[in-house]
Amino acid sequence: MTVSEIVEKRGNNRENLLQILHDIQDSSGDNSIHREAIGELAKIMDITTADITGTLSFYTMFSMEPRGRHLIRLCDSPPCYIMGSENILDALQKKLGIKIGETTPDKAFTLEASSCLGTCGVAPAMMIDDEVYGNLTADKVSKIIDSIAKDGVKKPEGI
Ligand code: FES
Repeated sequence: MTVSEIVEKRGNNRENLLQILHDIQDSSGDNSIHREAIGELAKIMDITTADITGTLSFYTMFSMEPRGRHLIRLCDSPPCYIMGSENILDALQKKLGIKIGETTPDKAFTLEASSCLGTCGVAPAMMIDDEVYGNLTADKVSKIIDSIAKDGVKKPEGI
């Protein structure tokens, strides 16, 4: 979908900017918002590119850098840290062969650290795209990654 089609669908109104940016990111092919799209959007909506980049930098779900098809956000805030998020980070890095901030060579996964996801009751926790995974262990992480690589975003049975 083009930027103008997205604006047309959502409505050319400042209130819809976040949804429009989500759609642009989803349609980008690399889970990011390209500079050309920002310029085009600014013209169409009659706002400045600084307004748009300001919004993008405020929300961590947006990126101007290319990312994998699936975004893994591992919580590293104190409650998750105490419950072993460092071991989960090790398990993720080993399983994916990448470090925090990197994307797998097949562009399937990008690994990021996150502050509290609001799911401390199931620490240690992570989000993959829109799905929360809690009470993580190294074994669970491996199953989750295998399941997503095979079936897309879908929780394996019992997780
Ligand atoms: S501290 Fe990790 S989800 Fe809240």
